[in-house]
Amino acid sequence: MSATADLVIRGGIVVSADGAYRADVAIKDGVIAAVGAPEAMPAVRETLDATGMHVLPGAIDVHVHFRDPGYPHKEDWASGTAAAAFGGVTTVFDMPNTIPAAGNAEILAVKHRIAAEKAHVDFGLYGLLGEDTIANVPALIDAGVIGFKLYMGNTFGKIPSPSTGGMLEAFEVVAPTGKRIGLHAETNSIMERRQTRLTAAGRTDPLAHLASRPAVVAVEAVSRACILSEWTGARIHILHISSADELRPLREAKARGVDVTGETCPQYLMLSSDDYARFGGIIRVNPPVREKSNQEPLWAALIDGTVDMIATDHAPHTPEEKTRNDIWSVDCGFPGVETQMPAMLTAVNEGRMAVCDYVRWSSFNPAKHWGLYPRKGAIQPGSDADIAVVDLARSWTIDDARIQSRSKISPWHGRAVKGLPIHTLVRGRFAMRDRTLIAETRGWGRSVHTIQEMPKAEPRNTDKTMSAIVRKPDANRKEHAA
Ligand code: NCD
Ligand code: ZN
Repeated sequence: MSATADLVIRGGIVVSADGAYRADVAIKDGVIAAVGAPEAMPAVRETLDATGMHVLPGAIDVHVHFRDPGYPHKEDWASGTAAAAFGGVTTVFDMPNTIPAAGNAEILAVKHRIAAEKAHVDFGLYGLLGEDTIANVPALIDAGVIGFKLYMGNTFGKIPSPSTGGMLEAFEVVAPTGKRIGLHAETNSIMERRQTRLTAAGRTDPLAHLASRPAVVAVEAVSRACILSEWTGARIHILHISSADELRPLREAKARGVDVTGETCPQYLMLSSDDYARFGGIIRVNPPVREKSNQEPLWAALIDGTVDMIATDHAPHTPEEKTRNDIWSVDCGFPGVETQMPAMLTAVNEGRMAVCDYVRWSSFNPAKHWGLYPRKGAIQPGSDADIAVVDLARSWTIDDARIQSRSKISPWHGRAVKGLPIHTLVRGRFAMRDRTLIAETRGWGRSVHTIQEMPKAEPRNTDKTMSAIVRKPDANRKEHAA
């Protein structure tokens, strides 16, 4: 190769979804130019010594809440993406429960402007799919969504969950677009009824939160979502899988050929109902952290591919909002975008899985299922140079006071981990170098919807959709005659 590269990462172990090997990585104009032996590298302006380090494709976290616009005291695009950069995360998909919620093209345009101005890492924006935003789907797509989010259960932001009828119609409208719909799959009516009774019975303790949403809320919601996906052909993604029980309807749907993917989060793999006494409201999250017996089945589901990816549901709130006495008044969620990789690499160090498995769950599969592969999700010539250089041997203790997120409170505090991202590159630029934020990369992040290529849409039962059946028969005839 003759052209001069901008940077060569030397001496590290490059990790892909199916292997790890010694190689140097050359980067030019934000793209990976070469991967191989030192003597195969082009002339270069700058080198980064990665001896003893692992060179991973940056994580793609398809589930974060960066709260901007609306809740700057909890997080904004600058603090949230700084946290991502410190966590080795190079692309984030932001949820629509901001103020205002991202349910129409105008608000989406506002979010695009804010993110483009402040983001240190690349991003996608979800559009809100609710009963009253179905008509906005085409305009939201034109405005640049990565996909849609539908809340089957109420959560932070009090976004009303659609009826099953509304959900079917929403799926019918999204199916022909080929976009994927992320689902908060918890059935609202079950939870509401139980919470009302728990409150009436005077229960305000942290475990009452878990009691209000047993796994059946997820089993019912996942099953129903898969049925509607199968009927309409809409692609779906089950967010934050929390229980062993919901794996069965997910597996069955996949076996039937439903285009459904799933994510779980470190909190469901590593925390359990045993931790409620210790953390109180800090651990309150939707879906809830469940009984320990769910952990092994979730790990197994990652290994066998039933669960496709790791995301975080990074849901920042302030200490005051997380430590109220009455569990029902505690805001749901906690930060995670910055600690996911260290927590998961700890599991690699413990021998639970290989580092390439981690890359498959954190980067390759998210890129593949959201239409970003091979631009994202791999370290190979032609891919974006989105890279986390990690020290797998570094032992340290998570300290909420030292994280980038504005939300300095989480059940990760005090956890001993082994594995730390040292440098994070986004399209060839250091967003984080030697554990220091590179301030000039504020505004470097770009929306990835422009590079998204989903497979061809395969809508089903199109003669039975709401829009098909409400067409007047004579209008139909005219159309056919024309
Ligand atoms: C999320 C939030 O705070 O926005 N909270 C949570 O408990 N997970 C909302 C969500 O992802 O459901
Ligand atoms: Zn959710």
